[in-house]
Amino acid sequence: MNKFLNECRAVVGAEQVLTAEADTAPYLTDWRRRFTGKAQGVVRPASADEVAAIVKLCNQFQVPVVPQGGNTGLVLGSVPDTSGSAIVLSLTRMNRVRAIDLINNTITVEAGCILQNLQTAAAEAGRLFPLSLGAEGSCTIGGNLSTNAGGTGVLRYGNTRELCLGLEVVTPQGEVWNGLRGLRKDNTGYDLRDLFIGAEGTLGIITAAVLKLFPQPKAQLTALAAMRTPDDALTLLNLAQGRCGAALTGFELMSEFCLQLVNKHFPQMQLPFPQSSPQYVLLELSDSESEEHAMAMLEAVITAALEEGVIHDAVVAGSIAQSKSLWHLREHITLAQAEEGKNIKHDVSVPISRIGDFIRETDILLQKAFPGTRMVTFGHLGDGNLHYNVSPPEAMADDAFIEQQDAVNQVVHDSVHRFSGSISAEHGLGALKREEIRRYKSEVEMRLMETIKQALDPMKIMNPGKIL
Ligand code: FAD
Ligand code: MLT
Ligand code: ZN
Repeated sequence: MNKFLNECRAVVGAEQVLTAEADTAPYLTDWRRRFTGKAQGVVRPASADEVAAIVKLCNQFQVPVVPQGGNTGLVLGSVPDTSGSAIVLSLTRMNRVRAIDLINNTITVEAGCILQNLQTAAAEAGRLFPLSLGAEGSCTIGGNLSTNAGGTGVLRYGNTRELCLGLEVVTPQGEVWNGLRGLRKDNTGYDLRDLFIGAEGTLGIITAAVLKLFPQPKAQLTALAAMRTPDDALTLLNLAQGRCGAALTGFELMSEFCLQLVNKHFPQMQLPFPQSSPQYVLLELSDSESEEHAMAMLEAVITAALEEGVIHDAVVAGSIAQSKSLWHLREHITLAQAEEGKNIKHDVSVPISRIGDFIRETDILLQKAFPGTRMVTFGHLGDGNLHYNVSPPEAMADDAFIEQQDAVNQVVHDSVHRFSGSISAEHGLGALKREEIRRYKSEVEMRLMETIKQALDPMKIMNPGKIL
């Protein structure tokens, strides 16, 4: 009998320690189905005290812990390695909204709360929680905080880090740190909260958070514009920001090939233009005055862009249903890519002004090194964040292409580095980019990160093999 697992059962209840293969399988394979790990079991606590008790047991028995939320991460951060020594600690039972403070404009939630449920709880209280991403129906706020997730609202509201005021964390020693402060100002020493945000479960387990709420916009409008180049898209961004300021809440770039893939795998999703165009931008405007005010702003932007030859076509969604179908085109790119087969993903950022040059130069380098590769380039242009994904040439088998992954990564990431960019803008490093990052971060920076890890988790039980 496994003494460690028996003690875990005494903490969370026997039915919350999963060991049968059929029960643990969904927790051991990543969302893209690229990797399957092994674990002693999956443990599902229901409170911070239970998490703390489990982590104490992990210390005592020297068992590594892999925290997991919705398991939608894209960098192999939420699944264990193949040694079978770790447990997966699933936070999904901890999904309560603990409090809403409408004067302080904050919501306090447990880490396993699904993002969409959190958005709904905020909306029911007459507020907006602006974090939004394609996986929102299954990712959790604990995972969003741990990856410092981005998504489509960053342009106006910032990354998850900027939406968080306080945290409750179980330390690698099994203590509960109550940092659930709803303060907008608090300069009392090192910022521990920001250390745990984006740490991908390597420094502790987030069990709850205090998050910022915002007023709901009076009107939200969506438009799709067609243009020739990413540089035209940048000119449109500048024009829209100049005219709309903070009302411009979304600005997403999609190439023609991305939308062809969506249409191929989801034929019910159609582009609203008679002719296709090399690039598209999805714009979202959120207005605190009225629908008419928002429409006037949006029409002015589109008219100016058409007159100046920046875009050659545009549609404005006339209803919520139309707006949703435009967003569905964008959100289905990842799913269409998964349907198409294997591809090599990149989640990069460069200074916004250099995006056009980056795409042009890197496309040429890739075609030279890997002729015929097909580029699936889309992303959060307003944040300088591109999903610069590479699919195999038409005639090449997926697996043969994936064997070249390291070489493809090197071309793309070296180019990102030359453009003073980042090789992970919003998805994190996980196990996937752990080696890769060493090529680009200085020794000083790596040493400082290792020092922090050593100080907080000297036993190295928190999500080993991820980030460092
Ligand atoms: P998981 O995948 O379970 O875990 C992610 C990491 O966080 C792991 O390292 C895990 O160990 C750690 N972790 C999880 N919970 C905790 C916790 N409570 N305490 C400590 N560590 C924890 N990401 C974006 O940034 N922007 C996007 O636009 C976006 N779109 C996506 C669209 C699709 C279709 C998919 C599949 C993914 C997308 N992602 C996006 C990636 C993913 O959804 C995010 O990284 C998300 O934040 C992960 O949340 P999760 O709950 O699924 O975390
Ligand atoms: C997105 O913006 O859709 C995501 O980050 C997912 C992806 O990169 O595929
Ligand atoms: Zn993204």
